[in-house]
Amino acid sequence: MQQKVTVVGAGNVGATVAQRIVEKEIADVVLIDIIPGVPQGKSLDILESAPVERFDAKMTGSNSYEAAAGSEVVVITAGVPRKPGMSRDDLVATNESIVGDVVRKVLPGSPGAVLIVVSNPLDAMCEVARRASRLPRERVFGMAGVLDSARMRYFLAEALGVSVESTQAFVLGGHGDTMVPLPRYSTAGGIPVTELLPREKIDAIVARTRDGGIEIVNHLKTSAWYAPSSAVVEMVDAVVKDKKKILPCAAYLQGEYGMRDVYLGVPVKLGRGGVEQVIEFELTAQEKAALEKSAGHVRELFGILKA
Ligand SMILES: NC(=O)c1ccc[n+]([C@@H]2O[C@H](COP(=O)([O-])OP(=O)(O)OC[C@H]3O[C@@H](n4cnc5c(N)ncnc54)[C@H](O)[C@@H]3O)[C@@H](O)[C@H]2O)c1
Repeated sequence: MQQKVTVVGAGNVGATVAQRIVEKEIADVVLIDIIPGVPQGKSLDILESAPVERFDAKMTGSNSYEAAAGSEVVVITAGVPRKPGMSRDDLVATNESIVGDVVRKVLPGSPGAVLIVVSNPLDAMCEVARRASRLPRERVFGMAGVLDSARMRYFLAEALGVSVESTQAFVLGGHGDTMVPLPRYSTAGGIPVTELLPREKIDAIVARTRDGGIEIVNHLKTSAWYAPSSAVVEMVDAVVKDKKKILPCAAYLQGEYGMRDVYLGVPVKLGRGGVEQVIEFELTAQEKAALEKSAGHVRELFGILKA
């Protein structure tokens, strides 16, 4: 492998992202955390699985940023996750200082990197990373829509009794209670699910998708990591391999969908340059109103950021 991806935060999401990247031989990985021994121990443990899992990617665990120098992609998962009864927004103050600190430490060694933000509240943490890095919007974006869409795809496949591979789903908006799942752009075998499932069933799937995060928090007493890490790795793969994949990501809007200066989940073309294009399409009045409500909520969070 020549390409290097740094994952900051060696907790549940970060370590699983690192594991999936090396297992798929997408890139070499540097795993960083503030807790002494954790990134080193997890890296060694994952590397010791390599002979059995059959991958040759390299991995380094560290509490400092030297090893991260020259990374093409930096994934930021550092921060605290939710506990039951907490919303993602409750994390803003703690994670703002962590994400800002991480960006300022990682960027000098990797000035050309693309930053993929995962820490919550996602849209606000993207803004923290954008302000701290002063990078163009193409290179600072967040993971939420791929996860939210994957959850919806799973629920649709389950309801229809078909392979998850046959379902597509589309979720726009902020990563939170105001996310906007779009059933009319969600399909099974190319057929809109609105043709295949009764309205009540679709409404129930939309609601379950919106509450997908809290459903896991209630089981685990912390937030999810298997599906989130898969979603992050799909984005990393699109960037590292310059795939030009269309994926829903939290992108900084500059007039698209009639909105400006706000991070929001929209379809983008992801390639080596990061967000190479924000893809726009016509929304119904109802969808537009839902997206605007979502943007309003994200802006409220921007308003309580300190930096
Ligand atoms: N965007 C999404 O869809 C999504 C999905 C799941 C989780 N998340 C968010 O991702 C974050 C991580 O979740 P998790 O379950 O992995 O949490 P976790 O507690 O398991 O791991 C977080 C790690 O970050 C480390 N950390 C804290 N401050 C740091 C710093 N300054 N520098 C480096 N490392 C630091 C901690 O030591 C810990 O190991 C949370 O904010 C969570 O809400 C987002």
